[in-house]
Amino acid sequence: MTQNFYEKAKQKDREWSPILGSYASSFDQSNGINYFAGNSLGLMPNGFRKKLLKHADIWQTEQHNGHFKEDGTKSDRPWWKYQEKLVPTASELLGASPNAKYPEVALFNTLSVNNRNLIETFCTYLRDTSNGAEIPTIISIKTNFPSDDVGLKYALRVVFGKKYKLVEVNPITGYGLYDFDKLIEIIENEPNVIMGFFPGLCYITGQRFPIQRITEALHKRDAIAGFDLAHSMGNYQLNLHNENVDFATFCGYKYLCGGPGAVGGIFVHEKWFDVPEFLYVSGWFGVHEKDRFNFNPESYRPAPGAWGFLQSNDQVFNTLGVEAYFELVEKHGKDNIFKKNEEISTFMYECLSSIPKVNIITPKPYSERGCQILFKAHMFKVDYVLGALKKRNFCEKRGGDAIRVAPLAYNKFSQVWEFAEDLHSCLQV
Ligand SMILES: Cc1ncc(COP(=O)(O)O)c(C=O)c1O
Repeated sequence: MTQNFYEKAKQKDREWSPILGSYASSFDQSNGINYFAGNSLGLMPNGFRKKLLKHADIWQTEQHNGHFKEDGTKSDRPWWKYQEKLVPTASELLGASPNAKYPEVALFNTLSVNNRNLIETFCTYLRDTSNGAEIPTIISIKTNFPSDDVGLKYALRVVFGKKYKLVEVNPITGYGLYDFDKLIEIIENEPNVIMGFFPGLCYITGQRFPIQRITEALHKRDAIAGFDLAHSMGNYQLNLHNENVDFATFCGYKYLCGGPGAVGGIFVHEKWFDVPEFLYVSGWFGVHEKDRFNFNPESYRPAPGAWGFLQSNDQVFNTLGVEAYFELVEKHGKDNIFKKNEEISTFMYECLSSIPKVNIITPKPYSERGCQILFKAHMFKVDYVLGALKKRNFCEKRGGDAIRVAPLAYNKFSQVWEFAEDLHSCLQV
């Protein structure tokens, strides 16, 4: 590694220190390991532990009353509507409309459950409003995350029986990079397309999907556009309302730092909430707030907006990590966080590109990726490389014989430099 990269890392750390220095120190990184796996499980915000203990205390002392008690502090809420407090920040990160007639965003359940529910909801609506003459076609990709793949197929089977066609577009490389011109061509030409379901960013290659372009192409076919944003939410700015996306889902434990199994969420465009045939998958907590705790299944009416999909009561303990993270986003500004995500991942890209024997699979332009970078060390066994890196770095094996790293705003540029330095030395043997 050249002196230039070292100097640049130091310079960048000096530049960012007054802007996000205290953001970075709001996560515990005292073990001395450079952590680059936020694409899988985000680091723990320091504020989480205090919240956890606080709610354990409320549970212990207030017991059932914790559901209803307002304790007067600004950041508090009774448990029965705890998840609601996450909506404003989540909406900003997703680019939901602040002026929507009903909320477009809600946080509840986990990702696979929400994917399945939303796909079923939209497909049921499409089935019930079609004349049934054609075989409906759904377009997705070959390299979906396994749970998306299984969930999609089960949902389609439940709604359409065996009468549907699923087109899974093939990637153009073994690692799963897509040619989006080809994907759009398929959307344009497949007969009777009713829905497309895609990731916002591929979990293996880190390739970003062009949400607006795909949505426009699907809408030209009068088809619905749905996205799994597990690897996009909190990674870079989304703009779902203006891009007219119909529905999307996300998880809370990657870039939202909510902890293992944290609460997930959904976005549904407001245009759907006035459609009379639109079907909510609701449970007792998806009921209209006016009927809460008092509802009669005979006259059940869902809450308007994304909250109509809520089924169970609030997952308070699964929400605290995301809440702690959102407090940091509100304090330090999402634009700063996204800007640093871009700069630090670009720096990682530059460092990796300069190391002989490193083949980067993720596309280079930031508009075609996020923070996650997948690379392969030519002629080296991936386990050897990971073994050599692990003294002061944590990252993961992916795509069989490749490594993925996701430097984020809580990392330092000098950590990226150390990682690249360690990689360079281990590939010199
Ligand atoms: C793209 C994608 N979809 C779905 C899932 C599954 O999420 P969950 O276990 O929260 O249901 C993951 C998990 O990493 C994922 O990356």
